[in-house]
Amino acid sequence: MTDPLIAAATSARERAFAPFSKFRVGAALETPDGAIVPGCNVESASYGLTMCAERVAIFRGVADGFQRFTRVAVVTDTATPTPPCGACRQLLWEFAPEAEVLLANLKGDVLKWTVRDLIPGAFDANQLGEPGA
Ligand code: THU
Repeated sequence: MTDPLIAAATSARERAFAPFSKFRVGAALETPDGAIVPGCNVESASYGLTMCAERVAIFRGVADGFQRFTRVAVVTDTATPTPPCGACRQLLWEFAPEAEVLLANLKGDVLKWTVRDLIPGAFDANQLGEPGA
C-alpha cells in the first residue's frame, strides 16, 4: 500500500504550475498530530521567482498554524527520485529538523533520507544568537 504521505505528494504534483520547466514536483509534510500539508512547485515567467514544492508546503503549513513537521515526501516523474534543492534543505532544517524524507517517483521507487543527513553543518537561528557576531 502506498504511504499516505507519498499519495498526498503525488496528488499535489498534479496541481504543479510548471509551464516553463515542465518539471512537476509534489511535496507533502506530516505534522506531529498527523495532519498532511501538500505543496507543488509554482513557476513564474520571471523564472527566478519560481517556488519549489517543498517550500510551498512549508509556507502553507506555517500559514495554517504548523511550525514543526515530522515527515516529508517529494514526488517527481523521474527515473530516480529527486532530492530537494539546497534552498529547500535549509527551510526543511528550520521547520523539520528531525524529519524523515521520502523521495519517490511515479514508478514507486522510494529513497529514504533524513533532513539531518541532507544538510550537515547547517546555518540556523543558533548562529544569529551568538554574541559579537
Ligand atoms: N523544484 C522543486 O519544486 N523542488 C526541488 O527541490 C527542485 C526543483 C522545481 C522548481 C522548478 O519549478 C522546477 O522544479 C525545475 O527546477
